[in-house]
Amino acid sequence: MKSISKDIFKKYQAQTFPYPSLLEVEIAEGSYITDVYGKKYLDFIAGVSSCSIGHSNMNVINAVKDQIDKYSHVMVYGEYIQKPQYTLAKLLAENLPEKLSTTYFTNSGTEAIEGAVKLAKRINGRSEIISCKNSYHGSTHGSLSLMGNEQYKAQYRPLLPDCNQIIYNDIKSLEQISEKTSAVIIESIQGASGFIIASKDFLKKLNSICKKNKVLIIFDEIQTCFGRTGTLFGFEQTPIIPDIICIAKGMGGGMPIGAFISSWKNMNELTYNPKLGHITTFGGHPVNCAASKATLEFILEKKIITEIEKKEKLFRKHLQHKKIKTITGKGLMLSIDLYDDHHTYQLVDNCMSDGLLLFYFLFNKKSVRITPPLTISLSEIEMGCSIILKNLNKLN
Ligand SMILES: Cc1ncc(COP(=O)(O)O)c(C=O)c1O
Repeated sequence: MKSISKDIFKKYQAQTFPYPSLLEVEIAEGSYITDVYGKKYLDFIAGVSSCSIGHSNMNVINAVKDQIDKYSHVMVYGEYIQKPQYTLAKLLAENLPEKLSTTYFTNSGTEAIEGAVKLAKRINGRSEIISCKNSYHGSTHGSLSLMGNEQYKAQYRPLLPDCNQIIYNDIKSLEQISEKTSAVIIESIQGASGFIIASKDFLKKLNSICKKNKVLIIFDEIQTCFGRTGTLFGFEQTPIIPDIICIAKGMGGGMPIGAFISSWKNMNELTYNPKLGHITTFGGHPVNCAASKATLEFILEKKIITEIEKKEKLFRKHLQHKKIKTITGKGLMLSIDLYDDHHTYQLVDNCMSDGLLLFYFLFNKKSVRITPPLTISLSEIEMGCSIILKNLNKLN
């Protein structure tokens, strides 16, 4: 098999990162990616939490094929009745609390965030959106305005006005929330900062302050959905039932789709004055909705979630080493925290040479991400951990 020239890749395909790993993919199946040279990699990244039920899952493939044989794109979002969309929306509602009954499908996570923030403004007519320091909600201008890291924002200012930040897990900073605030957006496990879990006390206080001031709570479940942390959605492990949730990544089983979900009454705000409150051409693409429905059904029918805790425990049991400071996160959203930035890069590089894919965090240079497919087997976990331990031993 001939490799595509790295020079052609770098010249014609826009790059935003100076040191991509340049793995040239030939095929991906289950928990493995094989490159064009025939080298097989155990995948502990899963497309950054996206390939939740393994690569090339047959249920997803068949759903995609069945749908594409019938029709692909037919019309902009919401105009025609398309079975893959409404059946997925219904299945989501059946697996969510009553106040999260109505789904708007988008193309991506960041578009779901944009839609959710617009919706919040329509619901209560306020403009302030509060997010958390070190949060990541996407890369379009609205989502970027919410991002909790100035380094990635400074060059793109001016951004959205009235976006302010609180400190994640800092109860005192919740005092910033007021009756001027439209919504607080939060991740139940902060992704880009290295899988930090929101404390119950912090969330309880957040809930009560928001209730008191009639402020909406938006949960960014883009990385935690479907099942990654041991429940279908992350909020199920918190004291909060959000007013709006945003989902994407793992909901597509490897296909691109996102959604924001709220009550029917709230969503109705987008239908008048002005109508067409959020417009998307390809959002809720029928092929991707079919893939997402197959993904959710697979997770529910095969009871994938019941295995997550056992798999987390196995990771934690094996990943004990003097070079590891701690393991943070929940379920199959785990972070190995090291003492030294250089160790992070060495570990990821050396594990890749040994056939194991690990990845970094956007805002945390001392940690290494582990987000394998939820379908990973116990023996694959053991194999991957032994590669990690071997390479931790080599670090100086
Ligand atoms: C928590 C969170 N929110 C939002 C996004 C943005 O999603 P997308 O890349 O699909 O736009 C991501 C992507 O990594 C994410 O992890």
